[in-house]
Amino acid sequence: MIIKVNQNILNLKPSATLAINQKVNYLRRNGGNVYHFGFGQSPFPIHESIVDALKANANNNHYLPTIGLETLRQNIAEFLLEHQNIKVDSDFIYIGPGSKELLYQTILILDSVFLIPKGSWVSYGPQIKSKNGTYIILETNLVDNFKLTSDTLKTYCEDNPEQQKTLILNSPNNPTGAVYTIEELKELADVCRANDVVVISDEIYSQINFTETFSPSISQVYPEKTIVFGGLSKVFSAGGYRLGFMALPKDLQFLHDTFRSMFSETFSAVAAPIQYAAIEAYKMNDGISDQIKCCSLILKGVSHYIASKLKDVNIECTQPQGAFYMMIGFNKFKGKINTLGIYKSDQLSDYLLEKFNVALLPSSDFYFKDEDLFFRLAFVDFDGQKAIRAYNNKPFVNEQFIQKYCPNIFGGVDRILEFVKKMS
Ligand SMILES: Cc1ncc(COP(=O)(O)O)c(C=O)c1O
Repeated sequence: MIIKVNQNILNLKPSATLAINQKVNYLRRNGGNVYHFGFGQSPFPIHESIVDALKANANNNHYLPTIGLETLRQNIAEFLLEHQNIKVDSDFIYIGPGSKELLYQTILILDSVFLIPKGSWVSYGPQIKSKNGTYIILETNLVDNFKLTSDTLKTYCEDNPEQQKTLILNSPNNPTGAVYTIEELKELADVCRANDVVVISDEIYSQINFTETFSPSISQVYPEKTIVFGGLSKVFSAGGYRLGFMALPKDLQFLHDTFRSMFSETFSAVAAPIQYAAIEAYKMNDGISDQIKCCSLILKGVSHYIASKLKDVNIECTQPQGAFYMMIGFNKFKGKINTLGIYKSDQLSDYLLEKFNVALLPSSDFYFKDEDLFFRLAFVDFDGQKAIRAYNNKPFVNEQFIQKYCPNIFGGVDRILEFVKKMS
């Protein structure tokens, strides 16, 4: 008998980020030195007050309420108000095992066409595909740091008035490092309001902002239909804890029971000790907030070093303003690159790993055309603990700092420059 399988799921590839990480680990295990710009995990330690809270609750073996501990949901509401200027009702905050799972469940529940700006996170598309849903890529450009403009959104909405639409917006952005200004968000909000667009606002990197303590949110200017997502993974450097949250806005609160039922029929509840650790995180004591500021400034210094070195030799770069990423482009060297028999970003990504030991993710994984020679460069391949210590002694990130505390970043940039020299 033929075993039938959901074809939408069978056709999914393994997540690009996890795939490159496995390849790099394999090469490293076999003695190769790889400059790993491929994986976006925080390099910094979890603040000890959060770890202590986890330890103190290690013997808690209870199933907690499906949507999360009330105290945690209240703490998150207070945190959002105090630290992100977002007003949400704690009754409509939901805790899940990572924001990824909450995004997935939201995508399952909403019967929409999803709008994804070119230059967005890898997983939105496959999540939508897995339910046989539809997504549309909205064009963006390097001059705008690959941010979606209100004109592009307006044109799409006016050309497709009959569809129910959900815009997926991520700021600070993975893969570009761009942060939307409140003015840009207001312009997008006006278009969303005029066209009844629901917004999924993925704010998982909010506090990792290179100039401010948090990043503007479209929910500040479009509170009625924006679902806000966040979590412990990036801001609190605790990806492995697997805890995220979402906050439902007024116009979607009728879905409260639907979300609760979905959660109870799938993951039941997030692990009890982790929820107690998260309560501590969202109190945001001075030690935690100082550490987040310090980490953001280190990342800012590292990103500016990379961007200035690469721009010097004509590599196109986004201007990183937050998160762990920037995009870099080799389109100006296309002619010479084509002579290597390389026409697509995934081919060049393989070539750079094989010949230059540099791991970069091709932009085709982020909704760019295959022939567009852009890449995501994640700048977190260093020992964050050592970098924090050094930065606290002398708060200045220059070339010497990078060479000493981020040697793989230093070496990797050198290898990219070497490649470009060959292509010039
Ligand atoms: C843009 C973006 N959104 C969501 C996530 C998911 O984060 P988590 O499930 O760890 O909360 C990530 C993780 O890499 C991300 O980069």
